[in-house]
Amino acid sequence: MAVDLILTGGQVVTPYGVKRMDIAIHESHIVALGTEASLGIAHRRVDVTDKVIVPGMVDAHVHLEDEFFGGTKMISTFAGGTRAAALSGITTIIDFAFQLPGSSLHESLAARKALAEGKTAIDYAFHVGVSTVDDDILGEVQTLIAHGHPSFKVFTIYPGRTVTDGPLFDLMQVVGKHGGLVAVHAENASIADYRVAKYLKHGQTGPIYHARSKPNIVEAEVIQRVMYLAKHAGAAVYFMHVSTREGVELIRAARQAAQPVYGESCTHYLVLTEDAYKGENGHLWIISPPLRREEDQKSLWKSLADGILSSVSSDESSWSHRDKDAKRARFDQVPNGAPGIGVRTPVLISEGVNKNRIDWETFVALTSTNAARIFGLYPRKGVIAIGSDADLAVIDPNVSWSLTLDSLQMEADWCVLPNFDVTGKVVMTVLRGQTIVEEGDYVGVPNHGQYLSRKLCPDVLHRPVL
Ligand code: URP
Ligand code: ZN
Repeated sequence: MAVDLILTGGQVVTPYGVKRMDIAIHESHIVALGTEASLGIAHRRVDVTDKVIVPGMVDAHVHLEDEFFGGTKMISTFAGGTRAAALSGITTIIDFAFQLPGSSLHESLAARKALAEGKTAIDYAFHVGVSTVDDDILGEVQTLIAHGHPSFKVFTIYPGRTVTDGPLFDLMQVVGKHGGLVAVHAENASIADYRVAKYLKHGQTGPIYHARSKPNIVEAEVIQRVMYLAKHAGAAVYFMHVSTREGVELIRAARQAAQPVYGESCTHYLVLTEDAYKGENGHLWIISPPLRREEDQKSLWKSLADGILSSVSSDESSWSHRDKDAKRARFDQVPNGAPGIGVRTPVLISEGVNKNRIDWETFVALTSTNAARIFGLYPRKGVIAIGSDADLAVIDPNVSWSLTLDSLQMEADWCVLPNFDVTGKVVMTVLRGQTIVEEGDYVGVPNHGQYLSRKLCPDVLHRPVL
């Protein structure tokens, strides 16, 4: 029998190292791995000699087509954002279904699913965002987990979204009991708000005061407290966008004590520092947590290499230049976030693998395997293995290019790393057997993405296995 597609001669990144192997794909799955001779006949054969083949990437922290911060709308859509993701080899995103005012979690999730339905170029799922915890909301958790939505996201900051310790502890107990996981945006609102008010009182309104109002302790204190609560609640916890060396060290200690704690960082923390706030358009880089200092950056890279942080995400949040400009007079009013879905892959190749900060196996762990395992998509996603979805990214490690709005084909109207030079580019992306990026161009059909039901692995919930 002829299979649909064989990729020949590539350097395939497997959990056991990088190996020259052919990959046979039939319908939507990987059906054989090995030498060309052993893989038989194919309808299509693509020579990928000298290219690196990695699992289709998973970005577990993405905000598309959402509203935040007083109703400001993001400009990246499910259609355009996932197309830009495909171009950088991402085949799965996990976005968020935040609790809508006056709605149940199920209703909010259904509304978000309806909005995304039929629009995405790649597969997708939603973390369930919780802002109000009461008995009704807690009563929904078990069914949500049983029906494939096992991760719950909370903010410890942002007006209208903050979940304080009492409700958070309740939520953790219920989520933990039913086999789910709690993901946390960790910032101490009391310290940050107090400092914001102090700076404003003294007329200190520029973007650097965003960083000054949220010193490292703002993140670290919440990581410490939430881990303590999670330990006593019996829940696994995942910290989103870890940015500080203090946060990393707390996570390291908890993991060494066998607590199921996971952390991600984001691309921008790895290559930018708070100096970005001092430039002409510093307000664009107002994100939370804020950009940090070089010593934090070093600690983040080290913890990605040594496995203390499990993943890198984009935290794609594209507020338009105009919406950022409209509020630039006061740092605390500027919508927080930056567009970045397309920059994670080239930055991790160029600044990570090419500079020997991480190897290809770690690149794969950080961009797909670990997120797939933590969030219940593995082994369907996150690994090149027989029986897994045929989701692949083919990387030419030698192409040098610059990150611009055009080269990244983003909908956003500003780039988080403008004109940043990189080496290494995704030239082909395959999603469930369909080629959706070919020679660097998007060639997929716009509604090919499927909603993914997820189930967490008990190992991940009980000890820090990744
Ligand atoms: O500044 C950020 N990160 N904005 C997006 C929302 C969030 O906090 O993840
Ligand atoms: Zn956040």
